[in-house]
Amino acid sequence: MKRRNFIRKAAGTLALVASAVAAVSYLRQFLPRRAGEQRRIAIGDPKRFPVDTYTFLEGHNLYVYRDHEGIRAVSAVCTHLGCILEKSTEGFTCPCHGSCYNEQGEVLSGPAPADLSWYEVNRAADGQLVIDPGRTVDPDDKYVIS
Ligand code: FES
Repeated sequence: MKRRNFIRKAAGTLALVASAVAAVSYLRQFLPRRAGEQRRIAIGDPKRFPVDTYTFLEGHNLYVYRDHEGIRAVSAVCTHLGCILEKSTEGFTCPCHGSCYNEQGEVLSGPAPADLSWYEVNRAADGQLVIDPGRTVDPDDKYVIS
């Protein structure tokens, strides 16, 4: 095989493989997630969160709330069309279409159709606290800090 033919075939093969990888990546977003597929979020030591405060977790779209007993995690994603909620004095407000939630994540005014989800918080084997977005819990459930 001549050098020019080899380079042409190698380039064609690489382009084909790159196209296939891009196509699979694109199509994967349309497939439903399997249970447990969402990644657990390590949040480290609970002491890094101020007491009686909702702390926004940048990049995870969650608020972590710590009180004197424990720590909880609530979704910061509006149940209307998915905008990121802002903390307000009465709870959370959506900057997009004005939905309001109380501090328990319950809808106070729409158009949001559903309450916010609360997620399980646990301690991992390495001692860090982790949030599991694949497991919803009751708003009053918290990881009790001992
Ligand atoms: S996305 Fe929040 S009210 Fe529409």
